[in-house]
Amino acid sequence: APDLTGRHFLKELDFTAEEFRGLVDLAAHLKAAKKAGAEVQTLRGRNIALVFEKTSTRTRCAFEIAAADQGASTTYLDPSGSQIGHKESVKDTARVLGRMFDAIQYRGDSQETVEELARYAGVPVYNGLTDDWHPTQMLADVLTVTEHTDKPLDRVAFAYLGDARYNMGNSYLVTGALLGMDIRVAAPRAYWPTEDVVAHAHKLAGESGARVTLTEDVAEGVAGADFVATDVWVSMGEPKGVWDERIAALRPYAVTMDVLRATGNPGVKFLHCLPAFHDLGTAVGREIHERHGLTELEVTDEVFESAHSVVFDEAENRLHTIKALMVATLAGPDLPKP
Ligand code: CP
Ligand code: NVA
Repeated sequence: APDLTGRHFLKELDFTAEEFRGLVDLAAHLKAAKKAGAEVQTLRGRNIALVFEKTSTRTRCAFEIAAADQGASTTYLDPSGSQIGHKESVKDTARVLGRMFDAIQYRGDSQETVEELARYAGVPVYNGLTDDWHPTQMLADVLTVTEHTDKPLDRVAFAYLGDARYNMGNSYLVTGALLGMDIRVAAPRAYWPTEDVVAHAHKLAGESGARVTLTEDVAEGVAGADFVATDVWVSMGEPKGVWDERIAALRPYAVTMDVLRATGNPGVKFLHCLPAFHDLGTAVGREIHERHGLTELEVTDEVFESAHSVVFDEAENRLHTIKALMVATLAGPDLPKP
């Protein structure tokens, strides 16, 4: 397992392919140990701060359960129950939390904030999602990919469809490039990652042998894909007013059974970080239905509920991979050697 003692986890670009793969391997080891009832606690007496400026189900629960499994405790802080963001600066908050906790998870809008926390905390800081990156999600997705293919990562073709100028699109492009994958983004040009992110991906691909494709053409994007992924069309923190424009632009990029068939791969798997809009099961979903007459957006219910879909394996893997991250950065000499 990679010894990442004291390291932050702010974005995929800060890691080598070997370190990233090492975290995923450690997660697989911890997952198997937990399932066998043979988990060894390496974080007893450690305390982890969980700072959330945006809502969460999976990320928060994964940190809390992973910490509990490993013998550590957590404290959940949100903006309404703490001074963060309104009465106290990021820099001061970092120094206070760093005196009390062994590590800090942060979820919010700005990448700059999580980077600033990391500069001043003196303890590892983990990015639990910003507008720009979702690196802990990438650990889970790569673990899920390895569980659902016999191919090595550098032979895997992975297509992401939809809004790619945000955390998930950026993270997939850069992670795929880092790990040598055949990584594709299919989206309208206006929804592609920024030139800066694309340049990072090409640079990594030059080192890893990855193939990086950006296209507006869905058929080209998914041809031969082993995995097809998408994300919500409107992310947390975006104004409600963008729905009309988003639906108009992204409807051709919805993941339907036709899109899965267009891969030409009967065993293709579908990934989604969740939450997903695939039925009328939420208040926002019902609102969209009233306004636009749609019951499904980025993915159809048929795909979501099909045997292609591995979204709940992916969700479970948030737990094992976030555990691996805490263990790799905090266990020190107790780090397991799988
Ligand atoms: N995928 C993900 O990050 O889920 P949450 O927003 O529920 O944490
Ligand atoms: N792009 C989504 C991901 C949620 C896990 C968002 O930022 O809301």
